Amino acid sequence: MTTILHETTADAVRLADLRRVYGTGPQAVTALDGVTVDFPAGTFTAVMGPSGSGKSTLLHCAAGLDRPTGGTVTIAGTDLGPLGERALTVLRRQRIGFVFQSFNLVAALTAEQNVGLPLKLAGRRPARADLVRALDEVGLADRAGHRPGELSGGQQQRVAIARALVTRPAVLFADEPTGALDTRASRDVLALLRGIVDRHGQTVIMVTHDPVAAAYADRVLFLADGRLVDEMTAPAPALTGARPGPGAGGPATGSRLGPEAIAARMAHLEAGA
Ligand SMILES: Nc1ncnc2c1ncn2[C@@H]1O[C@H](COP(=O)(O)OP(=O)(O)O)[C@@H](O)[C@H]1O
Ligand SMILES: [Mg+2]
Repeated sequence: MTTILHETTADAVRLADLRRVYGTGPQAVTALDGVTVDFPAGTFTAVMGPSGSGKSTLLHCAAGLDRPTGGTVTIAGTDLGPLGERALTVLRRQRIGFVFQSFNLVAALTAEQNVGLPLKLAGRRPARADLVRALDEVGLADRAGHRPGELSGGQQQRVAIARALVTRPAVLFADEPTGALDTRASRDVLALLRGIVDRHGQTVIMVTHDPVAAAYADRVLFLADGRLVDEMTAPAPALTGARPGPGAGGPATGSRLGPEAIAARMAHLEAGA
């Protein structure tokens, strides 16, 4: 019994034989074709693959934003399949954080109000101290009163990350979180994601097409035509506590895998597609 409990809590997310078919008949598109993979709690996974390989579909199904056609999604031990819409919405609000390429902040609200939004939606009154702490965690405590239009892209994405984390979700999903950012702002966001995994044991699953971004992860999964076709794992897993020093794991601090090696695998994949 204990073993079973242990198993369900050790993986933040489990995908078993996940399938997603859009449409029916001759127009049907198989976006996910039987994906089975576990995401251990406290790890940072990057998902890569050619355009149209099913990355966003995988992320949306795993986050309960889209219903798979077949297979199961389990989040922190809860199978999403049997949940009705209302229960799924509650689970999403409590257990899942989602970060988008385009930030998706509410323009009329301040950074602090944006961060408090998920708590309000959950019927809780956000404590100011919690909101300021969440903004402090992303280095923006001094911008609490600023609206998105008064912040840079990188700052907006950091507010979005603070908002996604304020409910202390079991897993943070990010779909191309650096896709709209310049190199410098991208590095800040990636170092931030790496840091919340290392310091708080947060689980992060990030879709990216950028090998430099993927290099910050503990593991890179490669998708092609809706299937998992390859995987790379960092030599120093987060759980051992080993920390590569600056430059040890690649060109940027916090990098775990070699961007060149990741790029080579991607090139191989795209050549074969
Ligand atoms: N809503 C949809 N309706 C029909 N086909 C879709 C829809 N969303 C995605 N697809 C198709 O599913 C496949 C995977 O898409 P997607 O998950 O967005 O890939 P990626 O994020 O890797 O670029 C593609 O062939 C895409 O055209
Ligand atoms: Mg996509």
